[in-house]
Amino acid sequence: MPKTRDILAFVLIVLPWTLLIAVWDWSPINDFKDDRPEKRPYSKISFPLKKSCPPENKDIVQAGHTKDVYRRSLPWSDVLPILHVITPTYSRPVQKAELTRLANTFLLVPNLHWILVEDSQRRTPLVTRLLLETSLNYTHLNVETPKNYKLRGNKKDYTIPRGTVQRNLALHWLRGTFSHNNSNSQPGVVYFADDDNTYSLELFEEMRSTRKVSVWPVAFVGGLRYESPKVNTMGKVYGWKTVFDPHRPFAIDMAGFAVNLHLILCKPQAYFKLRGVKGGYQESSLLRELVTLNDLEPKAANCTKVLVWHTRAENPLLVNEGRKGFTDSNVEI
Ligand code: UGA
Ligand code: MN
Repeated sequence: MPKTRDILAFVLIVLPWTLLIAVWDWSPINDFKDDRPEKRPYSKISFPLKKSCPPENKDIVQAGHTKDVYRRSLPWSDVLPILHVITPTYSRPVQKAELTRLANTFLLVPNLHWILVEDSQRRTPLVTRLLLETSLNYTHLNVETPKNYKLRGNKKDYTIPRGTVQRNLALHWLRGTFSHNNSNSQPGVVYFADDDNTYSLELFEEMRSTRKVSVWPVAFVGGLRYESPKVNTMGKVYGWKTVFDPHRPFAIDMAGFAVNLHLILCKPQAYFKLRGVKGGYQESSLLRELVTLNDLEPKAANCTKVLVWHTRAENPLLVNEGRKGFTDSNVEI
């Protein structure tokens, strides 16, 4: 028969340890450290991860380190197409404000997977914390823009593309994660959402049905109140309503189109070009690898509604306000 004193001693030793282990296992910090899929917090989406291979295209730079974390926000549908939203971001005084605003918008969008790519040598504590504190489904990557493509000082140089290697890394990540011949995989749509723009919730529902590439107007860009694809009575895109270089193959801002994930996967050579690309040609450098004008699907009521605003204080918004043919008072902005 064990003595009461022995039982008491046993309980006093075992109980604190049991409690300690239970608390440790429950702790979200511990969950984050152990990133095996089965240990991820709220890991309800499981993407069929493929082994990542080194990029072949020299316009994409391999990240030193990546980390994927998936968390559940809104109820997740297993049939609704996933919106893979790619955002390049870089450290600056307004970064946290911009990302907070963006995260708050994304929290209202069902089946959204945010791929946030930092333009930095390593993932920063600020962005890591911000992502952990939202309950968004996200993937956090980083890659630094090569030094010779970095903007110097505060002055904008429109011949230097911004966010290019970051978007390319995200495309590479998607191709490494999803297999293009898996017909059972959940449909998806890829959208490039810069961190400083304003996005309506309606926009995300418009792009969700993208079969190849969908397009729509973008406000406050190219010196206009809004730029837009031109759509004929048959609902086909036949040109571009823009003053800045309308002869570009796709005279459209990054915020003005979305691509079906399957198309991204089955055209593995399609990336944004970093080298030798004139200002405003970055979007065309990707799109020309994916579609022709005839394939474009106009959204936002045949491109008559503005659902996204390119918000840059220095945009000469009103400069062209009076230009004939470019002021459409019927369009609410
Ligand atoms: C316009 C387009 O809207 C961009 O999509 C396009 O990348 C850019 O022109 C270009 O031609 O390169 P703009 O407002 O001038 O955009 O560019 P930013 O908003 O300053 O940058 C675009 C994205 O790249 C942002 O998400 C920003 O955070 C990111 N970025 C910018 C970096 O990751 N690193 C940088 O050094 C600068
Ligand atoms: Mn911008």
